[in-house]
Amino acid sequence: MRTPLMAGNWKMHKTSAEARELAQAVRERIAPASDREVLLCPPFTAIPAVAEVLSGSPIRLGAQNMHWEPKGAFTGEVSGEMLRDLGCEYVIVGHSERRHIFGEQDEILHRKVKAAFRAGLRPIFCVGEMLEERDAGKEREVVERQLRNGLAGLTEQETKVLVVAYEPVWAIGTGRTATPDVAQTMHEHVRTVLADIWSGPIADGIRIQYGGSVKPDNVASLMAEPDIDGALVGGASLDAESFGRIVMFPSS
Ligand code: 13P
Repeated sequence: MRTPLMAGNWKMHKTSAEARELAQAVRERIAPASDREVLLCPPFTAIPAVAEVLSGSPIRLGAQNMHWEPKGAFTGEVSGEMLRDLGCEYVIVGHSERRHIFGEQDEILHRKVKAAFRAGLRPIFCVGEMLEERDAGKEREVVERQLRNGLAGLTEQETKVLVVAYEPVWAIGTGRTATPDVAQTMHEHVRTVLADIWSGPIADGIRIQYGGSVKPDNVASLMAEPDIDGALVGGASLDAESFGRIVMFPSS
């Protein structure tokens, strides 16, 4: 059984004080439940404040990006080791905004995935096609390439803590959610590729989150699909009430 991972990606939002307030409100709203795992990914600068608020709660802490080296002359960068030091357990790698706004490509993302494991972090590796790629019928090919290049050479042990997130670029921040059907079709494809890279049983154990305009009113239908194992939520995670409703979706 895969425990759904319900994560908030706050992107570049919230000062420390605002983050503290939001994390506190989320903490108060979310009843501990053994059938789902909850994760908050604030911006780097707010991680210590959120860590303090979440201390003693089952809500986990993660970051949105990292560098692939543990330390060095990389002005402006933050390493996985530094994130571990602040109490992060997860790190998002290869978010479409990193790929498309900051030009991060498969080779760099592969280094980051490996570095996350080395630092003791669980990477949430994001994949997803752009609208033009879907319109050209290339979405399966694009996602397969991202998976094979980004996840090459992982050990079996590493696959046990890996999370994959399918985030179609056309659904991010647009209010245009993938239908449960469209999402499930791609999640099944992702799992088939993972099974081909490793094995069926390994692929069956890997959680695949969906991301892209997840809201309180569409989360339950997405989560009812057999290969959707959680949500990576952007905009709706910035409001404790709506994120709380997403996290506490009624399970069937
Ligand atoms: P939205 O939920 O705002 O569409 O963002 C999704 C996302 O990018 C999460 O990582």
